[in-house]
Amino acid sequence: DAEEDLQPRPPVVTIMGHVDHGKTSLLDYIRKANVVAGEAGGITQHIGAYHVSLPDKRFITFLDTPGHQAFTAMRARGAQVTDIVVLVVAADDGLMPQTIEAISHAKNAGVPLVVAINKIDLPQANPGKVKQELLQHNVVLEEFGGNVLSTEISAKKGTNVSDLLDQLVLQAEILDLKANADKRATGTVVEAQLDPGKGPVATVLVQSGTLRVGDDFIVGQFSGRVRALLDERGKQVKAAGPAIPVQILGLTGVPMAGDQLIVVEDATQAREIAQRRERL
Ligand code: GTP
Ligand code: NA
Ligand code: MG
Repeated sequence: DAEEDLQPRPPVVTIMGHVDHGKTSLLDYIRKANVVAGEAGGITQHIGAYHVSLPDKRFITFLDTPGHQAFTAMRARGAQVTDIVVLVVAADDGLMPQTIEAISHAKNAGVPLVVAINKIDLPQANPGKVKQELLQHNVVLEEFGGNVLSTEISAKKGTNVSDLLDQLVLQAEILDLKANADKRATGTVVEAQLDPGKGPVATVLVQSGTLRVGDDFIVGQFSGRVRALLDERGKQVKAAGPAIPVQILGLTGVPMAGDQLIVVEDATQAREIAQRRERL
């Protein structure tokens, strides 16, 4: 719809890289350093996505999933949720098989890479070697005349992590990400499970529109009505706009990662569509 009123939205970022190169350490550091004041340290539950607010009041949404599997599974189901891939490469180890796999995943999906050369605190760190290896795999960093942003970081100590976040904001500006918040929501399931207390629970990344408590929706083959929305701290929220992840209660079954959520007119329409999908 060319007439749509599009507004800027936060970038959705997935962190990828070889085993033990520091993906979780980086996410943990970012989360601890950037959560809303007063709530630091209060996050214990695992949730497949979260958003951080930066000092300049901007948001970045991180998908905190076992990168490769989730990325591949979602892409196989036609879901494109990531705007930017952060490629973590340990500076003592260099490019490894899963690094190379991540490069090709990002290239195939047409998603830009931002490189984080990690573990620069180690005496055996060799960022120069990493850069040469990247070049050999056609990842051409800015300093070699290419357009791939990179930073040398220590996820463990937090060194230069704020520079990496600045680069993510910059990359997002280049991508000029926009969405219409003023319509019925659509989104993608990032993860879902049956909670013994809450029933079926899904973490959904809203991609367009705004999802609200009381909305009737279909997701995969299930219909439902949003009974409650929880943010990544388990706090109830009334609504979630584009690029914001939320946990949804009020599902009639457990959907799969990559399933599309679509808000519809009313419960009757939701049930009809769900029944038709069930028969397929
Ligand atoms: P998988 O999820 O198993 O693939 O690993 P990962 O990429 O999430 O790596 P993780 O964050 O678990 O880090 C692996 C190891 O490297 C841990 O022992 C970390 O403490 C260590 N590590 C991570 N970042 C740094 C860093 O910047 N410097 C140093 N010295 N060690 C680091
Ligand atoms: Na690890
Ligand atoms: Mg990890």
